Amino acid sequence: MAEPLISARNIKKHFPVGSGMLKAVDGISFDIYPGETFGLVGESGCGKSTAGRTIIRLYEPTDGELYFNGKNVYKLSRQEMQEVRKDFQMIFQDPYASLNPRMTVEEIIAEPLDIHKAYKNQKERRERVIELLKLVGLNEEHADRFPHEFSGGQRQRVGIARALALNPKFIVCDEPISALDVSIQAQVVNLLKDLQKKFGLTYLFIAHDLSMVRYISDRVGVMYLGHMMELASSEELYDNPIHPYTQALLSAIPIPDPEIQRNKQRIMLEGDVPSPINPKPGCRFVDRCRYAVDKCRQVTPEFLEVKKEHFVACHRADEIIEGTAKPTK
Ligand SMILES: Nc1ncnc2c1ncn2[C@@H]1O[C@H](COP(=O)(O)OP(=O)(O)OP(=O)(O)O)[C@@H](O)[C@H]1O
Ligand code: SF4
Ligand SMILES: [Mg+2]
Repeated sequence: MAEPLISARNIKKHFPVGSGMLKAVDGISFDIYPGETFGLVGESGCGKSTAGRTIIRLYEPTDGELYFNGKNVYKLSRQEMQEVRKDFQMIFQDPYASLNPRMTVEEIIAEPLDIHKAYKNQKERRERVIELLKLVGLNEEHADRFPHEFSGGQRQRVGIARALALNPKFIVCDEPISALDVSIQAQVVNLLKDLQKKFGLTYLFIAHDLSMVRYISDRVGVMYLGHMMELASSEELYDNPIHPYTQALLSAIPIPDPEIQRNKQRIMLEGDVPSPINPKPGCRFVDRCRYAVDKCRQVTPEFLEVKKEHFVACHRADEIIEGTAKPTK
């Protein structure tokens, strides 16, 4: 296998809050390989966006190491970071909120070029903007308009053009399609896939929707309350989920074949996600897990490779794989 483009090691991002420490991301580790799409899923509030932002150092990490092309990004000086900034970009969930309504599309797309002084003159700047517009399926006529004149899908295309302006290598796509109409979602996903092929881009693709992540991702990580619970190739994760949380998330997705759907056991995810403020030791999923035993309350399970390239943080992973794990509730 190639060397990873991104290696995240024990990354933490804690926020001080009135009553203690909110551990949004609490020690996650994984690799992302060049040209791949790594999907990151989990319920609302589990730390996906914070993880994405911390990885590209939009947030200063509380702890951990992030290697990009072998360099420890968290140790770079401000000046060295300027260079790496060009390689890291982000596409946001809400194309309404993430584009400045008072700027024209040209100004929006050219902003990263302006910041990094990435052109010789105004003509070159304009030409690059037009080139970027065409890459995302828009054209020159769109350059002088304002965001409110566009549909949601078109605005997201503007966001993508802006993200591509400096020829990045790694893009965090934070739920880039969840605010869009279902009819438009596939178009934007296909655009992202085409651009990935064309430019050899590497994506961290954050989503709630497990079915969409399966379609777009090579490998998928499942987060719960700041911890990584399971990680495997998309196929392996969807065919052989091991972690009780992943099993519950997957059982909530309807299967198109009614015969399979009828025979499928639905695992209910009961209760809400607990607060990430001052979390208790032990497994973060314990209050909602149907396999929980005493040990789960005392010892945090390690994130281990339980099968080839399949990682799980669960004390009962081996029993679950063997099919001998009995539910405790
Ligand atoms: N700047 C911040 N200051 C304090 N707490 C924060 C901050 N950003 C996020 N959090 C908290 O960190 C936790 C994780 O939030 P995050 O936005 O990363 O989750 P998420 O998985 O992206 O959720 P969603 O699916 O709703 O986007 C939440 O409890 C959130 O309230
Ligand atoms: S460690 Fe225990 S509580 Fe956590 S997922 Fe595994 S069985 Fe459930
Ligand atoms: Mg989020």
